[in-house]
Amino acid sequence: MARPRIVRTVKALRAAVAAWRRKGDRIALVPTMGALHDGHMSLVKLARRRADRVVASIFVNPAQFAPHEDFARYPRTWKTDLARLRAENADLVFAPALAEIYPAGFATQVVLTGPALGLETDFRPHFFAGVATVVAKLLIEAMPDLALFGEKDYQQLLVIRRLARDLDLPVKIVGAPIVRERDGLALSSRNAYLSPAERAAAPTLHRVLEESAAAIRSGEAIATVLARGRGRIAGAGFKLDYLEARHAETLAPVASMKDGPVRLLVAAKIGATRLIDNVGVGRLTGR
Ligand code: PAJ
Repeated sequence: MARPRIVRTVKALRAAVAAWRRKGDRIALVPTMGALHDGHMSLVKLARRRADRVVASIFVNPAQFAPHEDFARYPRTWKTDLARLRAENADLVFAPALAEIYPAGFATQVVLTGPALGLETDFRPHFFAGVATVVAKLLIEAMPDLALFGEKDYQQLLVIRRLARDLDLPVKIVGAPIVRERDGLALSSRNAYLSPAERAAAPTLHRVLEESAAAIRSGEAIATVLARGRGRIAGAGFKLDYLEARHAETLAPVASMKDGPVRLLVAAKIGATRLIDNVGVGRLTGR
């Protein structure tokens, strides 16, 4: 059969996965909204190494966009997405229509606390409810052994880990490192929106994150480092949503590296485009 197989319904997805499972195959799911770039493909490659069967889903999920956000103009690049998935030997692409995921009368949402509080939620209040609901559905529909998510969306990764644990979903959530452009900008489907001038300014986010992480590691106070970083981001023409230092596993606020492994997370708008990024600072080593 031509690969990847394209499946549009939950019923056909379940049948395909059940047949593999009867053979004892290990199944990986890579959820995406399409517009696939090398960041997405790194997840597919990792899935290929970790499992016998790789399922990618492509679904631009309206529930995670606010009315003023970019759902209508979100890039949709089905043909090249499919070619990329074929090149990486994906077995199946689940690309449901809107009504397959949200049929008339759909009325259920996952309610989150813990790692979903703060950061993105302060600026996109409905975002994680939309993400968690669709990811819960995808995990229940595909019932994979593992599901892969990028650290690019670090808070999302922690929210989904918590979701799987709390709902006893029998799946291993695997996080994968951020894939970047040569100048440090994290790959994102939304980078396509950037004007040349915005694109030139965009790597500032990563540069500030790396310099801040180095300063914190060398012993400078977190609050001082963040204040300087915020100034630099604003100075490069961004409208900053947040630059924060948080506990890498819980996202609880941290005042110093004594409080645990630290992650720096940033979200900022350049022109009309909102970018997010994050880096690990590491743990305090006994000195
Ligand atoms: P999307 O933005 O398409 O991203 C799909 C997956 O690719 C996510 O796990 C994301 O973290 C990962 N990813 C994106 N850019 C990356 C990069 N530069 N390096 C590594 N991984 C990267 O995230 C979503 O879709 C949606 O919220 C979804 C989980 C599919 C639910 O609708």
